[in-house]
Amino acid sequence: MSRKPFLAGNWKMFKTGEQAAEFIGQFKSVAASLGDRDIALAVPATALETAAKAAQGSPLIIGAQNLFWEKEGAFTGEISAPMIKGAGATMVIIGHSERRQFFGDTDEKVAKKLAAALADGLLPVVCVGENLSERENGKTLDVLSTQLTGSLAGLSAEAAASIVVAYEPVWAIGTGKSASEGEAQEVHVFLRRRLKETFGAEAADRIRIIYGGSVKPENAALILAQSEIDGLLVGGASLKVDSFTKIVQSPYAG
Ligand code: 13P
Repeated sequence: MSRKPFLAGNWKMFKTGEQAAEFIGQFKSVAASLGDRDIALAVPATALETAAKAAQGSPLIIGAQNLFWEKEGAFTGEISAPMIKGAGATMVIIGHSERRQFFGDTDEKVAKKLAAALADGLLPVVCVGENLSERENGKTLDVLSTQLTGSLAGLSAEAAASIVVAYEPVWAIGTGKSASEGEAQEVHVFLRRRLKETFGAEAADRIRIIYGGSVKPENAALILAQSEIDGLLVGGASLKVDSFTKIVQSPYAG
């Protein structure tokens, strides 16, 4: 089954609206020149509207990095799916390991956020990943299985088919030490099998499973060449037009 590759940058807590507009002004023609792949940027909430405006007229997808599941209410500091949509964005990252580690995002909360994102028509990118001690203790697949089941709880097969799953080993994030292409492929094969068991082959075959963790221009093509790796989620190397351009232009085997 061929899936359209999904290449996304996650800016984390970097860039003002002005810096986002400048980046996108330079980058959007790159996105427009690569019609065989989806290219996205998850920007800080304060830059969403400016980024969405700057991307207008190009296929570049603009997304948020988190959301709260209620539509509105007394939830100081949170933003909702309708607000993200209202800012002109169409995607949202959910359950990133930094949210899980520092801000209390559990699988249960991730599942609620996922339902809220889908209810408002946002494209969700749901993140899972093991930490170093879990990997060293041989618990990687157990941990991922639990995260996947919990994070996607209550999802219909039809809804599942439209989501993106990101495998981001915590030990590879921001460390300069990416998973090897073989390690990543092994996990992606496992995740696809679990998705098939849960949602059936037809839906699971449509879900794009992307890899994140120390992706750079130098290793992007090798990782993308793996048959079960449908794209990339890029942190640090997405902050510069130059390096992100090289990454999104990497050959994709399909
Ligand atoms: P780095 O590419 O900086 O390792 O970050 C990966 C990541 O967390 C993307 O969501």
